[in-house]
Amino acid sequence: MQTESLWEHTLTFFPQYLAALKEHVSPDATIAVVGASDGKFVLPLAAAGYRVIAIERDPFALHGGQVHLPGDVNAHALGLADRLKLEELYDRVQVIEEDFLNSDPLSAVCDAVWTSCSWHYSANHHRPLAEFIARMRLLVRPGGLFGAEFMMPVEARHQLVEHYTSPEKLIRLFPTVWQVLLTLRTGEFTERAHVGQLQDHTHRMGLMVAALTPSPSNT
Ligand SMILES: C[S@@+](CC[C@H](N)C(=O)[O-])C[C@H]1O[C@@H](n2cnc3c(N)ncnc32)[C@H](O)[C@@H]1O
Repeated sequence: MQTESLWEHTLTFFPQYLAALKEHVSPDATIAVVGASDGKFVLPLAAAGYRVIAIERDPFALHGGQVHLPGDVNAHALGLADRLKLEELYDRVQVIEEDFLNSDPLSAVCDAVWTSCSWHYSANHHRPLAEFIARMRLLVRPGGLFGAEFMMPVEARHQLVEHYTSPEKLIRLFPTVWQVLLTLRTGEFTERAHVGQLQDHTHRMGLMVAALTPSPSNT
């Protein structure tokens, strides 16, 4: 890639999700990315040949602008739209500029869905985590794939918010028509300073990948 996401260097389980995608969906499958940000995952998916539906509520992530970075650096950040144009990947990606929780549920339009550390954002705390997950599940056709990496609780305040969760709790939100393929978790680790968090900080992250039983009666 000629361009870089502001989130390029944060830890991710995306390679594990990509491996599951290669096993479960066709090379030209449609993947929804919820909380697409400036395209850290949208661009590699599109470059790999997938069609992508990118859902993002933050105009800055989509259209770029001035940003304050670690080291007291002010810079102009590219948004997802600029990056797609510069990388000539625009034709493969449909961008939906909307709050995922307020969007009309798109039913079974995708072969797979992915989100990375989106649902713990405070803008989502007014609605149950189960609703966010159910909306994601609805996007996936029978036989398709669900993938999410998410923040696990580290600080005391996180224990009070169900959106900081764990693979065990997440599994309970999935009906039995879903087969859990993989869960992973980290211990506490230090993430280097990045946009939005200008000091080094501590995270704990989880991953869950699940497949919907390939039957037409799964709605
Ligand atoms: C910044 S990313 C987290 C970093 C991650 N490594 C990445 O690049 O995808 C999470 C994104 O989810 C978006 N997001 C959170 N809740 C959302 C919602 N309800 N609807 C749409 N986007 C949402 C945030 O605006 C943010 O851009």
